[in-house]
Amino acid sequence: MPAIIAVSSFKGGTAKTSTSLHLGAALAQFHKKKVLLVDFDAQANLTTGLGFDPDAHDSLAPVLQGTRPIHEVILKTEIKNLDLIPADSWLERIEVTGALAADRYSHERLKKLLRPLAYDIIIIDTPPSLCWLTESALIAAHHSLICATPEFYSIKGLERLSSFMQNISERHPFSILGVCLSFWNPRGKSNDTFLEVIEATFPCRLLQTKVRRDIAVSEASIHGKPIFVTAKQSRAGEDYRALTEELLARL
Ligand SMILES: Nc1ncnc2c1ncn2[C@@H]1O[C@H](COP(=O)(O)OP(=O)(O)OP(=O)(O)O)[C@@H](O)[C@H]1O
Ligand SMILES: [Mg+2]
Repeated sequence: MPAIIAVSSFKGGTAKTSTSLHLGAALAQFHKKKVLLVDFDAQANLTTGLGFDPDAHDSLAPVLQGTRPIHEVILKTEIKNLDLIPADSWLERIEVTGALAADRYSHERLKKLLRPLAYDIIIIDTPPSLCWLTESALIAAHHSLICATPEFYSIKGLERLSSFMQNISERHPFSILGVCLSFWNPRGKSNDTFLEVIEATFPCRLLQTKVRRDIAVSEASIHGKPIFVTAKQSRAGEDYRALTEELLARL
């Protein structure tokens, strides 16, 4: 059975998509893991970030509706051992359409689809809200990886995320793998305060590795490739490799 990780945060722009992409790429490229990335956000940034056109491929939408088998929507990426299920705008409000609308347990469908797949690790990128998609991803997951930035509203959002997660994990248990800080400035004035709030909200879950701000991350997404291909010597590339090792040790 694969280890399934849901990458989430309540707030937008906390590097969920960049973290999903680089964690997946590093596990496949440097640790020989067979990895499936699932783009579960109608914005489809993970899909474009890997060089695919969201309008040219089916997402999980028809699979969740029961009209296409899952293996038909899995794409091979340029990186060996790294596959992708792309997203498209059909994922937006999917829970109120088709067969899902009448299914009280629709949010358990993703779990049933992903758990039997033959991968070492499956990483699900979620939207920046506590919606049906995020809930489905957490229900499907064995572990959740929480993304945050060193900003007041991002750190405050963690408290709401924490109670949302507690609610779900009472019925569908999953572990909190870690809290990952991106856009890190090692000299930030309020760093200590942020670290204290995270510690209070998710005790002992903050990851040692922090991903520093690095323009190479957004440049890589323009090229549709991970930073390990476009900027081998970059700061963020170094941080993502260290983050991957730290997470592997926790898994
Ligand atoms: N360490 C970094 N340094 C500089 N830019 C970064 C870094 N990480 C991510 N970015 C850029 O910041 C923007 C937001 O990142 P990303 O899309 O990964 O966040 P997100 O949490 O998935 O956003 P959303 O909530 O909209 O899904 C992107 O343009 C991305 O390229
Ligand atoms: Mg995103």
